[in-house]
Amino acid sequence: MNIKERIDLLRSELHRHNHNYYVLNAPEITDKEFDDLMRELQELENEHPEYADPNSPTMRVGSDLNKNFTQVAHKYPMLSLGNTYSESEVTDFFERVRKGLNEDFEICCELKYDGTSISLTYEEGKLVRAVTRGDGEKGDDVTDNVKTIRSIPLVLHGDYPPSFEIRGEILMPWESFERLNQEREAREEPLFANPRNAASGTLKSQNSSVVATRKLDAYLYYLLGDYQPSDGHYENLQKAAQWGFKISEHMKKVQTLEEVFAYINYWDKERRNLPVATDGIVLKVNSMRQQKALGYTAKSPRWAIAYKFQAERALTRLNKVTYQVGRTGIITPVANLDAVQLSGTIVKRASLHNADIIEGLDLHIGDMVYVEKGGEIIPKITGVDMDARGMLMGEKVRFITHCPECGSRLIRYEGEAAHYCPNETACPPQIKGKIEHFISRKAMNIDGLGPETVAMFFQQGLIKDTADLYLLKTSDISPLERMGEKSAYNIIKSIDASRSVPFERVLFALGIRFVGETVAKRLAKALGSIDELENASLEKLKNIDEIGEKIAQSLISYFANPANRELIERLKSAGLQFCRKEEEKQDYSDKLAGQQIVISGVFEHHSRDEYKELIEKHGGKNVGSISSKTSFILAGKNMGPAKWEKAMKLGIKIVNEDEFLERIS
Ligand code: IVH
Repeated sequence: MNIKERIDLLRSELHRHNHNYYVLNAPEITDKEFDDLMRELQELENEHPEYADPNSPTMRVGSDLNKNFTQVAHKYPMLSLGNTYSESEVTDFFERVRKGLNEDFEICCELKYDGTSISLTYEEGKLVRAVTRGDGEKGDDVTDNVKTIRSIPLVLHGDYPPSFEIRGEILMPWESFERLNQEREAREEPLFANPRNAASGTLKSQNSSVVATRKLDAYLYYLLGDYQPSDGHYENLQKAAQWGFKISEHMKKVQTLEEVFAYINYWDKERRNLPVATDGIVLKVNSMRQQKALGYTAKSPRWAIAYKFQAERALTRLNKVTYQVGRTGIITPVANLDAVQLSGTIVKRASLHNADIIEGLDLHIGDMVYVEKGGEIIPKITGVDMDARGMLMGEKVRFITHCPECGSRLIRYEGEAAHYCPNETACPPQIKGKIEHFISRKAMNIDGLGPETVAMFFQQGLIKDTADLYLLKTSDISPLERMGEKSAYNIIKSIDASRSVPFERVLFALGIRFVGETVAKRLAKALGSIDELENASLEKLKNIDEIGEKIAQSLISYFANPANRELIERLKSAGLQFCRKEEEKQDYSDKLAGQQIVISGVFEHHSRDEYKELIEKHGGKNVGSISSKTSFILAGKNMGPAKWEKAMKLGIKIVNEDEFLERIS
């Protein structure tokens, strides 16, 4: 077998195993075996760029090229469906179809998947384009991002038509959605309200390697094109499943209205057991000939309708509103309710979000309120039953003016809906939050101390701030509940070990607003010590690479607070690193000074993050996209073809891993 044949064989095998795993849920080989085949293919493709193929399975990893999407006109407009929430309108639809056709017909009942719609174009069995709905006439070309979705076939098998479009929904399964939000919470990034937003946000990501990590899925629900395998919509989709597409198993053809309602009622309950979000069911006339005969209104087909499920809702009494203070000082109003059953769980509390929402609801204590779960993370109050109010209306809910934890007057930043407690240094939940951040892995990495232990130490009056940690002795904590001599000793040992954590991480650990890991590194490198940082002017700070007005202002106001300066003095006395050490400096060179370097592909010797760090250590700058200013591209395996082309066009040098390491050695 020659190399080209081996490459083709690997590609077709990998496409097949991919389909087995992501569409059929029936892998034939182990993950390791899959990875080995992929690695072999990647190596061959690297050595033989003449056999490159944009639909190769290796293209699934995405590229980190930043780009704005190009807009593409849809060949057939992407219409939406008429929506209804009522059974009587479903009956009306059925009657309209019966009258319109005046012959027997079948209805295909389907789940209405709650994601973001996509139109895929295949030519000669290969995915050539993926376009979002956009305004229905034209959408964004998101092909590179869509290629990372494993359940979308890049290459088809079987007797597919030479050219066609297929439409469907891109979804983020509940499991991936929850994991993503947990990760975002840990990084203090804003959460996605529901899987739909997460899926569409991800699909519009400028960076397809991010999309690749987000575990999107896709169901296809409509085949278009001049050649259709059959007159039946249902039958066409079964065919499409044979070509490699993921088609819902829950479609059902029916003839009567009774069967339609049975389907609706069944899925209204059963949908809770599905791995992805659904928000209704779609009814379609099954025969394509009949679909054509019924035609379209200006906005939607006459041959289909969407019945939307009622968001599950419960009515219960509002007893009081309490306020939670988050670790950044944000105040969240919480409705305390009479316990009520909702979507299988008992709800006693619901979020009221902010002062504007409370005002908008005109909420009074004792009101009967509607609680909904609808895709959101925490149940929310969506309305008040005004009729139940009667004569004895309770007190109007007014947002608090002072922090319930420390009594400080709350503030509201311009343009923000939220209220904050500004007392960063003495408000208990904020202190606890700060300590938790301080001890976390990427900061001081103090093992054996978790949020509960911190809360207990705080409650016992053993610590009031981070500096107090360094005054703790084994004998202070070993008598505490569930502690014991050994764990106490280990905690003290790891607190002690944190004294040698390098300055840049200590700086990150302080929890200064907007000073994350990367910013802390930059500041440490640019200024070298906390004393320099404390005394730096706004201008000086803003002159540091990547430090803008917002971060600079935050630093100035942090150091303007005497409590913060005092805390730093105490941490200094405890022996923490507030200067960059000589040996850290020695690691650095200026071999890459002034160079802008793009990283692309998959690497063997170091991770991508490590390469970023190496570039910075040697005075270079890692940039996201190729431009005429790019000095060179550090390329690993599997560099994206678009990037390759651009580099060639601009005449930018491509440097491989080994060459790069040699340059900086
Ligand atoms: S058919 C012309 N089938 O719901 C008919 N749509 O407004 C094309 N959707 O934009 C749509 N599940 O994003 C169809 N089984 C399904 C669907 C479905 C979800 C979405 C789709 C469409 C919207 C309807």
